Amino acid sequence: MDMYEQVIELAKRRGFLWNSFELYGGTAGFYDYGPLGSTLKRRIENIWRQLYVIEEGFMEIETPTIGIEEVFVASGHVGGFSDPLCECTECGEAYRADHLISGIIETADALSNEEVDKIILEHNITCPECGGKLGNATEFNLMFQTKIGPGSGRNGYLRPETAQGMFVNFQRLAKFYREKLPFGTTQIGKSYRNEISPRQGVIRLREFTQAEAEIFIDPSEKTHPEIARFENDVLTLYSQDAQKTGKPESMTIREAIDNNIIAHEFLAYQIALANNFLQRIGISPDKLRFRQHLKDEMAHYAIDCWDAEIWMERFGWVETVGIADRTDYDLMAHAKMSQEELAIYKEYDHPRMIRKFVVKPDMAKLGPLFRKKAKAVADELQKLDEESLSQEEISVIVEGEEYKIPSELITFEEVEEKVSGETVVPHVVEPSYGIDRIFYALMEHAFNTEKVASDDAEEEERTVLKLKSEVAPIQVAVLPLMGKTELSTPAKEIVRKLANRGILASYDESGTIGRRYRRNDEIGTPYAVTIDYDTLKDNTVTIRDRDTMKQVRTSIDTLENTLFELIHEKIRFEDAGVPL
Ligand code: GLY
Repeated sequence: MDMYEQVIELAKRRGFLWNSFELYGGTAGFYDYGPLGSTLKRRIENIWRQLYVIEEGFMEIETPTIGIEEVFVASGHVGGFSDPLCECTECGEAYRADHLISGIIETADALSNEEVDKIILEHNITCPECGGKLGNATEFNLMFQTKIGPGSGRNGYLRPETAQGMFVNFQRLAKFYREKLPFGTTQIGKSYRNEISPRQGVIRLREFTQAEAEIFIDPSEKTHPEIARFENDVLTLYSQDAQKTGKPESMTIREAIDNNIIAHEFLAYQIALANNFLQRIGISPDKLRFRQHLKDEMAHYAIDCWDAEIWMERFGWVETVGIADRTDYDLMAHAKMSQEELAIYKEYDHPRMIRKFVVKPDMAKLGPLFRKKAKAVADELQKLDEESLSQEEISVIVEGEEYKIPSELITFEEVEEKVSGETVVPHVVEPSYGIDRIFYALMEHAFNTEKVASDDAEEEERTVLKLKSEVAPIQVAVLPLMGKTELSTPAKEIVRKLANRGILASYDESGTIGRRYRRNDEIGTPYAVTIDYDTLKDNTVTIRDRDTMKQVRTSIDTLENTLFELIHEKIRFEDAGVPL
């Protein structure tokens, strides 16, 4: 079994991940989270909330997972969110056309459908399933379409990203944040992509969880007020230039900014925050890098994007977070579609004097030419901006009718004007997390098999999930040495006291203590508390550390606090009691 199979076998057996609809044979691209999986996932999401909502102040919102057609026409998803599809003309099997030729050409996903067809023909590529002839590549839109309401209904789509729900609420959000940039909002929820042929298990899902932040910034603001927090953090960066040499580079965030490797501080800050989050939940730093998208792989809305890529044994470097500079693309697109202004008014700290040219319409000449409309034409002329006025032919619309104004009838005057602010369409920096991939990566990075001494002094192998204690689903196993009432009663009391402190503890009295440790090691329970006959004499218990298997003896009276501090890494294990 390769690493993926070992992790998935454990995940299924112990209640982390199950194939959806297994009762009916299942279908690709869907996974259920079992009891331990749901808990682990929720803990990952809650640490994300701690960083983004509580520490950054990007308040969370919740919007529908179905969107109306206008939203996704404006966003560009109806027009351009597709993958090339190639179907076998004989057995009907569907393939991603670019995947069929990825062994022949590295940049297959940048080719047109015609180019793909040509390569398939030249290399005589046939259906991998039945050897049949492949049809031509066509664009397949990845959104699930639906109807809202009965009858012919209104077209709707399951959202392919949570982001659009935040963009279409821009006006409300701007008011909530009192029109002060920068501000941000977040959303954690399901998104949907009707992948053509998902063959990578939990890595490519048709329904998946995103955690996204949309951070609205003033495009003229070049410095992030908190960048000093991360300046000295060292990251592995794989910029567009570094990809030419094939060598990722290690450097501090400050070096990356000063050397123009990361374009601006708001983007750099978000890359550093993603690095901080991923390491905090337990991604190994040596299996984490940030790769900049090449120009031809950028999403339609982005001018720059860095992916947090995590190394996974079977799949190699996998994109898990995209940190994109979406500019004003989405706000402009929704403003155009909705005919609403999606901008904020930025008041200057001090009013500015601005020199500008204004039109001086010559009424003596406009009057005879436009008669009753002359005044309205003059008013419209004065509203034109400098660009419209510099056109060869100047025209205005009055009551739906166009009036052309000969340039000799217009003179300009330079005036000085006091302005106290300006209208700004914010730019957006977006970290977008794929929680399911991160979940799998955590399990894989935590997965270990080790030789240990067994109860009968023989060597045996233990499987241990070395999850960070903060994300481990079960945080403490409470194990009476034997299932006798005199030991089980205080053990159950401990479980109750831990639950009251918000610690999820499991009670387990069946089998030898060694077997119970193994069962808990396998699901990543970081601490086990053993209640024995000494407990009844001196009110102490043993705490065992999952990774080192070392034990300390500590008082029951302070046990909840001791375990809470251990779980949240506030104290070292050696300081949790008297070593045994
Ligand atoms: N919001 C970015 C993405 O879903 O790809």
